[in-house]
Amino acid sequence: MASFPLSLRRPDLVEIRGLINGEWIHPGDGESFPVYDPSNGRTIQNCPSFNIGDFRRAIDLAQAGFEDFSRSTTAKERGALLRRWNDLVLEHEEDLARILSLENGKTLTEATGEVRYAASFISWFAEEATRSYGDQIPSSYKNAMVITLKEPVGVCGIITPWNFPAAMITRKIAPAFATGCSVVIKPPRETPFTALALAKLALEAGIPPGTIHVLPTKVHKAAEELATNPKVKKLSFTGSTRVGKHLTQLAAGTMKKVSMELGGNAAFIVFEDADIDLAVEGALICKFRSSGQTCVCANRLLVHRDVADDFTEKLIQRVKAMRLGPGLDSKTTHGPLVNAGAVAKIKEHVEDAVSKGGVVKVGGKVPEGLDGGFFYEPTVISNATADMMVAYDETFGPLAPVFTFGDEDEAISMANDTEFGLAGYFFSANVGRVMRVAQRLQCGMIGVNTGLISAAESPFGGINESGVGREGSKYGLSEYQNIKTVTLGNLDK
Ligand code: SIN
Repeated sequence: MASFPLSLRRPDLVEIRGLINGEWIHPGDGESFPVYDPSNGRTIQNCPSFNIGDFRRAIDLAQAGFEDFSRSTTAKERGALLRRWNDLVLEHEEDLARILSLENGKTLTEATGEVRYAASFISWFAEEATRSYGDQIPSSYKNAMVITLKEPVGVCGIITPWNFPAAMITRKIAPAFATGCSVVIKPPRETPFTALALAKLALEAGIPPGTIHVLPTKVHKAAEELATNPKVKKLSFTGSTRVGKHLTQLAAGTMKKVSMELGGNAAFIVFEDADIDLAVEGALICKFRSSGQTCVCANRLLVHRDVADDFTEKLIQRVKAMRLGPGLDSKTTHGPLVNAGAVAKIKEHVEDAVSKGGVVKVGGKVPEGLDGGFFYEPTVISNATADMMVAYDETFGPLAPVFTFGDEDEAISMANDTEFGLAGYFFSANVGRVMRVAQRLQCGMIGVNTGLISAAESPFGGINESGVGREGSKYGLSEYQNIKTVTLGNLDK
């Protein structure tokens, strides 16, 4: 094994090969790409890059793997396999978290939380595997009966993002396995090693080799292969709206089922009757979690003008206490951004806001003394307005712009003034308002008096340009199933 800059209890969890049909392999053409440590910009390790031919081979093998897996296992057996995988992930959470933290940059505490969150999808779908019911439908024909069968869709193309290197894999593939599907995974270039480590544990748990294939790649067309190959029956993607639209168009060529978890522009509303301390806690979680790099992060803080000063001041004090550094350093509260492009984007948003009247209250620059890393100071800007980039473009970084509003209607119209519809948050102590606003906000997920909405049992997904489909929850399984209607006629003959 090449030198990987981490000491682990199980060093073999660092896998620097791809996985096809149970074999750990290098691509035939020897291509690779560097994976960087975002806290210093240095290369952690070169990762093999698989080509389109490798993807086609994996898809063919996944087809055979699917046929075998779906026919030869019961739902109960698939649940048991998932439970074993869950146990192994939790047993090795420390090693997984360290790999994840190194390649993604999030703090070890956040990375450990993510590994547990990832495991929660495995255990959730281990249980759901056995609770996949069809229907018996009263027929309008005499002497007939209608029943529905739920069947696995087949080979699934899985394209995952770098911001949740573990949880976005398990949220997609645990339901796929629960239903009897096989998967070909294209992990992100930035964080392939977490995906490979999880796959290794899946094999150890007994997930059959033909059902899980993991191919890191630098070849953009690989995603297109997953979207167009007729043997792939389902495409699940988490990433930008731009790429999601492109892949959806391609997937339409063979009418694949798609799940698209795309961009957001979440509003975080603080009404005048809110508990301000609670709202500040909520903002810290849902704006600064993973240094602002989650698609459900609050992008715009909308605060009633009567409480704006109080809220902003309290938020500033908490942001000042944040400590930037490498994720693996125990003193760090907030890690780096994923790459130089992410730093450039937040810089652009801050400069644009300032040029239009925004006032930097804390942060607002690249920190000194963290040379080489992709850092930006956690930032609060007041006087934010609708013409600023932060109002309509997802920053995906630790920038909290504070907008003000005068009444409920204005807050709702500001919140809904976006083509996205992933998450929204609001804080209010008025129960009538809670129900009213929850119904009027146009998004797939809403946090009321909390900044934490993600959990295995809760449907995750957006509306409008934030995508289609739901992950996790009792709905997540059906994304990997087809309904077959069986009409039994002439039962009296
Ligand atoms: C994401 O940012 O893609 C997922 C966030 C979450 O599951 O909370």
